[in-house]
Amino acid sequence: MVSLVRFGVSIEDELLSKFDKLLKQEGYPTRSEAIKGLITQALVKQEWTGKNNEVAGTITFIYDHHKRDLVNKLIDIQHDFNQLIISVQHIHLDHDNCMEIAVVRGRVKEIQELAAKLKSVKGIKHSDLVMTTIGH
Ligand code: NI
Repeated sequence: MVSLVRFGVSIEDELLSKFDKLLKQEGYPTRSEAIKGLITQALVKQEWTGKNNEVAGTITFIYDHHKRDLVNKLIDIQHDFNQLIISVQHIHLDHDNCMEIAVVRGRVKEIQELAAKLKSVKGIKHSDLVMTTIGH
């Protein structure tokens, strides 16, 4: 069972007003929820600094499927890293453009290597890695 702990925080009033403005913008209902959210964000960020840590994430990439060399390269890369990729969703955005979202789980260094390889394929329009956690 999780027990809640109360603690006092002393900060400059100016910083607190900025924080209250931020939590409103981000949609946090309370200061406690906002602080929890920020702590979690920092912890996840820290997880990604350990190259051997097991993490999860998504890699999204956009490309023109008429460029057959590009498509083949993307498929080759994904097969090289098949042990990391849990699933891939393919969306046909319009006549030319495709979006693919690869859900990945594995070691930080391997996921970063995969993301870098996909990003560097010549002709890719956009690619980005969202770094999250397996929840431990
Ligand atoms: Ni498509």
